[in-house]
Amino acid sequence: MAVAPVSVPGHIAIVMDGNGRWASKRFLPRIAGHKQGVDVLKRTVRSCALHGVKVLTVFAFSSENWRRPADEVSALMDILVVALSRELNQLKKDGVRLQFIGSRQGLSERVRQSLDTAERETADNKVITLNVCFNYGGRWDVVHAAQLLASAGEEITEESLSAKLSTSTCGDPDLIIRTGGEMRLSNFLLWQAAYSELYFSEVLWPDFDEAALEAAIQAFASRERRFGMTTEQLPASKNASA
Ligand code: IPE
Ligand code: IPE
Ligand code: MG
Repeated sequence: MAVAPVSVPGHIAIVMDGNGRWASKRFLPRIAGHKQGVDVLKRTVRSCALHGVKVLTVFAFSSENWRRPADEVSALMDILVVALSRELNQLKKDGVRLQFIGSRQGLSERVRQSLDTAERETADNKVITLNVCFNYGGRWDVVHAAQLLASAGEEITEESLSAKLSTSTCGDPDLIIRTGGEMRLSNFLLWQAAYSELYFSEVLWPDFDEAALEAAIQAFASRERRFGMTTEQLPASKNASA
């Protein structure tokens, strides 16, 4: 694979959207789109690692996705558990560190155990960190962080609150990609997105291939990240992270 010599985002986050529409277009049940989406995620993790991306954060199940029909919700839980048990060895070989971000409340014991096992068994991996946002909401994240500070009697500042967010160890995403054509965040990484570059792709997640990832990375490389400053104030490396 040709890796273009562009400024690569150290942390990419993806709203993996469009699975249901991908399946409907093929007269398949929505769940077929979710299954295809898992394969695309596997490939994307590998591609990101090859590009030198250090953190990939993906939105797999939102706080609001509980509102879907019960059979779709339970199928999504099953897909997660099956994918984790099937892929764990390969993830270990590839040096992928898995972390699950979101509330564990409301998840079944079986799901919780499979998340804990995957985190424990990949904890020492160093090639790339894959954060899977599952039962995650950006508002939950901020409220949870504020509750932790309040219960510890700590002062609330931008720094102290950031340090209690679920992403505290891996920082804010440089680039947020949303597939599937919608132009909204849907409660994803609200605080952390403050200075992320946003990239919206019409491609449905199950069709998101190497070329689509390349296009997003190229678009990122062409952006000027000013962080409130003027162009003239910027250092030579215009894509330096905040
Ligand atoms: C994203 O795909 C996956 C989840 C939200 C779990 P969707 O299931 O939202 O697919 P569309 O948007 O209906 O096509
Ligand atoms: C966002 O997609 C959540 C995930 C991709 C997991 P949705 O499909 O749930 O978002 P809305 O409902 O269109 O905003
Ligand atoms: Mg959707």
